[in-house]
Amino acid sequence: MTWQATALTLFPDMFPGTLGHSLAGRALERGIWSVEARDMREYGLGRHRVVDDTPFGGGAGMVMRPDVVASAIADIDLAGRPLVYPTPRGRRLMQADIRRYAAGPGVVVLCGRYEGVDERVLEASGAEQVSIGDYVLSGGEVAATVLLDACVRLLPGVMGSGESAVEESFSDGLLEYPLYTKPAQWDGRDVPEVLLSGHHAAIAKWRRAASETVTQARRPDLWAAYRAGAGQDISRAAGTHADADRLN
Ligand code: ADE
Repeated sequence: MTWQATALTLFPDMFPGTLGHSLAGRALERGIWSVEARDMREYGLGRHRVVDDTPFGGGAGMVMRPDVVASAIADIDLAGRPLVYPTPRGRRLMQADIRRYAAGPGVVVLCGRYEGVDERVLEASGAEQVSIGDYVLSGGEVAATVLLDACVRLLPGVMGSGESAVEESFSDGLLEYPLYTKPAQWDGRDVPEVLLSGHHAAIAKWRRAASETVTQARRPDLWAAYRAGAGQDISRAAGTHADADRLN
């Protein structure tokens, strides 16, 4: 069964875009997922296929018309898929959302221009409004690409044994530990000794401590949630934080 992505967009040529390459691109070729870009211009009004208009109440930019967007949505067989609208006004998109989307039959992503889509059609369609971060992109297509990339890599058969989704950032509420490869010495910098030891338990302990240190330093929000959820048991890492600290 193919995981089906549909993008409603004014720029259908932007898909699959980067998703046609590398891991996602190979999965696309293998039929693990598909992406269809629907040109919303086709649902535009009149000879000029108008899709937007000026905002009621005044202000800069244009707003996508609800009637046009509704026609585009009505023409799609959602087939149990969520309708997702990327917008800086949405709630933060989380790895848990990505897991939920990846576990279903696919997603339909409504790509607006950044001034946005008329609120009424968002309400009426029950679109999930999600933001990929606190910055403003020029349109929803890049955000849609981010969302789809994050989903596709989780689909069964996409990641080989060489690419594990088990130990990675956010999988357990922490950022991932730092990574090293050959050479063991580079430009006067050594790989942390324990990683060369072959001592699996010591390595696991070091990595956990490094994950905690980096999360605490860079993402106090994640760290607080982790502390709250992990039963305040940070003692198991005590004593090894110093090792991880040396990385920074
Ligand atoms: N569209 C424009 N900016 C966005 C953002 N930060 N997240 C999701 N969609 C967007």
